[in-house]
Amino acid sequence: HVDAGALTALPKAELHLHIEGTLEPELILELAARNGIALPFPTLELLHEQYQFTDLQSFLDLYYANMAVLVTADDFTDMTRAYLRRAKECGVRHAEIMFDPQAHVARGVELATAVNGIAAALATSVADFGISTELIAAFLRDESEGSALEVLEELLAMKAPIIGIGLDSAEVGNPPSKFIRLYKRAAEAGLRLVAHAGEEGPPSYVEDALNLLGVERIDHGIRAVEDRILVKRLVREQTPLTVCPLSNVRLRAVDTLAAHPLPQMISAGLNVCVNSDDPAYFGGYVSANFEALAAEFGWDVATVELLAGNSIRSSFASVARKAELL
Ligand code: ADE
Ligand code: ZN
Repeated sequence: HVDAGALTALPKAELHLHIEGTLEPELILELAARNGIALPFPTLELLHEQYQFTDLQSFLDLYYANMAVLVTADDFTDMTRAYLRRAKECGVRHAEIMFDPQAHVARGVELATAVNGIAAALATSVADFGISTELIAAFLRDESEGSALEVLEELLAMKAPIIGIGLDSAEVGNPPSKFIRLYKRAAEAGLRLVAHAGEEGPPSYVEDALNLLGVERIDHGIRAVEDRILVKRLVREQTPLTVCPLSNVRLRAVDTLAAHPLPQMISAGLNVCVNSDDPAYFGGYVSANFEALAAEFGWDVATVELLAGNSIRSSFASVARKAELL
């Protein structure tokens, strides 16, 4: 068995994290007051009552509504610093952070406000928190490809400090095939490619994300276990799968943590790592995910070390940075 201190001490990378999903209820209320925004759930108590989800969409509704408090660049900076502070306490030494540019532009927030606000916190993350960081622009798959392409062109034109693109939001009915031109353009621009697939969507979405979009990493990917041929391929190619166990439980992608396929995925030889997804909404940061897993499955140190090592190896960090952390 592993104790919590040892878990935390282990250097790890967080590769699946939506910065807007780190907005804690307390910070939501603080930013609402600062910006004079009237919230539908204006007290901690009323807000807390909203955190019971039945599926991905029920979470997304609250997640997008709460973004209304993000107005100025400082708001984005404060949110990002709050995450980095908590990530440091979890032993995170490298973080690849997604943000949802379209969700902010749609609310009338300038793209530069969101980008510059987040980037300001990331620029000093090593000095402030000992965490190297990268930024990934995630596009909303329930919006049109045209909208995503427009925002991508704007990000490229402003030389936004992004290392890659991702694909998130409502999965079922919005398959990878909808975004072939977006990924082609991002690849041409030299960006790294990831996408959510196989969270609520079928294994064929994982396959299509690889074949049609050319992604090098799959966010979630848990439903891949339903397809033996796909699992064989993912094992052979050692495609990283950024699994988020507490998220899967809270969004009912799995019935219980005990029923989560992660142990089976590890046994199969898949390249899996553990991430927090939207930690302010799902009951904890990356250490809480590790602790819940270790308790549920009675893991030894070797298993936890394997998963932490996978996260570093699967990251877009430099060879030198990886060597430093492994
Ligand atoms: N946006 C934020 N978190 C997400 C998740 N887990 N799946 C899809 N879109 C998201
Ligand atoms: Zn996610």
